[in-house]
Amino acid sequence: SQTRYYKFEVDYMFWSPDCVENIVLGINGTFPGPPIRANVNDTVVVEVINNLSTEGVVIHWHGILQRGTPWADGTASISQCPINPGENFTYEFKVDKPGTYFYHGHFGMQRAAGLYGSLIVDLEEGKKEPFQYDEEINLLLSDWWHTSIQEQEVGLKSNPMRWIGEPQTILINGTGQFNCTSLDKYNTSSEHCEWKDQCAPFVLKVEPNKTYRIRIASTTSLSALNFGIANHTMLVVEADGNYVDPFETSDIDIYSGESYSVLVTTNQATTQNYWASIGVRGRKPKTSPALLLFNYLPNSVAKLPISPPPETPKWDDYDRSKSFTNRVLASAMNTTKPPPIFTRRISLLNTQNRINGKFTKWAINNISLTLPSTPYLGAIKFGLNSTFNQTPPPETFPKNYNIKIPPPNPNTNTGNGVYRFRSGEIVDVILQNANALTNNTSEIHPWHLHGHDFWVLGFGEGKFSTADETKLNLQNPPLKNTVVIFPFGWTAIRFVADNPGVWIFHCHIEPHLDMGMGVIFAEAVERVREIPPYALACGRTATHNVVPIIPQPKPP
Ligand code: C2O
Ligand code: CU
Repeated sequence: SQTRYYKFEVDYMFWSPDCVENIVLGINGTFPGPPIRANVNDTVVVEVINNLSTEGVVIHWHGILQRGTPWADGTASISQCPINPGENFTYEFKVDKPGTYFYHGHFGMQRAAGLYGSLIVDLEEGKKEPFQYDEEINLLLSDWWHTSIQEQEVGLKSNPMRWIGEPQTILINGTGQFNCTSLDKYNTSSEHCEWKDQCAPFVLKVEPNKTYRIRIASTTSLSALNFGIANHTMLVVEADGNYVDPFETSDIDIYSGESYSVLVTTNQATTQNYWASIGVRGRKPKTSPALLLFNYLPNSVAKLPISPPPETPKWDDYDRSKSFTNRVLASAMNTTKPPPIFTRRISLLNTQNRINGKFTKWAINNISLTLPSTPYLGAIKFGLNSTFNQTPPPETFPKNYNIKIPPPNPNTNTGNGVYRFRSGEIVDVILQNANALTNNTSEIHPWHLHGHDFWVLGFGEGKFSTADETKLNLQNPPLKNTVVIFPFGWTAIRFVADNPGVWIFHCHIEPHLDMGMGVIFAEAVERVREIPPYALACGRTATHNVVPIIPQPKPP
């Protein structure tokens, strides 16, 4: 095993991801950030230098479990203090599982500003994957707005709230075309779609009769996506860094925070090129699908395919989404089966609410998460009880809550209490969806857990009931780090609290998290070994054992 060093200088810069110039959060002058590639058991060291003039920054390694290094999880207010402008922070962690991952900002809405890149962990040198392929293609999907995250955030906090709306463009590896409809994108003489470097149409050069492993990860701020290739099927082999029982499909749904590997064989007529498209699902799309050209070599790129781009399935065909999601099951080689019983079950009701009858928020068991200024990891380790609510949030919600109607009392409260787990607890979480503030509306939410993979025991309609117990899959549930809850439905997951640290569990939709859609899990923090002091240079952890806290003068 090796140590892989990276140096990341983060700064805003002018960039044209979709032929419209904006500012993006770049790393080392590029967008998306440089890919990280390592082998299992390598140590990854990333020195992050914050060149921003007025904002802190952190980087989270999405899907990396951070066993033994919870302070390197890169979550502001949870695992560390945001790195101040002009300062640097070195992340050091082991990658112990092969798979398709990515990294992204985890402070405010910096992910939506473009702070992300891919992170791929290969098997140990000399080891072979349990499936065969000739070449690899890596696609990192995101969605892009022409409004800045500052403007987006102010909108979300305003009364009435100004929603960010649908993205202007879907980006593939940071490039896309805005406002030039479908085929125009590939028409070199089109007036709308200039072929500039940063927004050139996405072309995948492939050779006929080869098998490609396409790694796809989604770091969208909002959109659920669907990826399909005309005339080709794909074999799904990996999800969130775990092998799945391989299954064939014409297209895949991918929610923010998820990743997949699919095998595609270029076995179609070699005289043609083929379209692939990536379109929006789960929300009424206002964004035109992103197109990719599978350019069968040696055909010219300019040769337009004779068959049209695959059509994205109807955005609200949830039955189709559910049947895809239900096909994702653990590979037979996966020997880690879930323990047969849970020792603790938490039911989390997802509701949209208001604060003081005004500001729109998302709440979990009627608490909308607001992060404290002192990072939890240090606060809990050192017993700084005044830094966050000591009352743990509710384990469940009222039995008679009607999930089919808007919340009868739309008002909620903000809070920052934590769920505490003893080492080894077997935790079930039932994520319960409900009606939002508007009648007959319930949204999809991709929930992501830090520090763990969890077993997805099942999905269901309506309110989870004891009758659903028997439907849970304990035989071959897939291991994932992100799972969706469907409108008006529930999702059940299980994990073992065997990774001491403080982990956020949240909706991976960036504005939803910003509006409070998350909870904090504190796991056997007493077992966390010494936290590097530089992770704790803010809030009360900065001074707790050095000087007494001097209260700030209060205005009269
Ligand atoms: Cu990819 Cu907490 O996030
Ligand atoms: Cu959400």
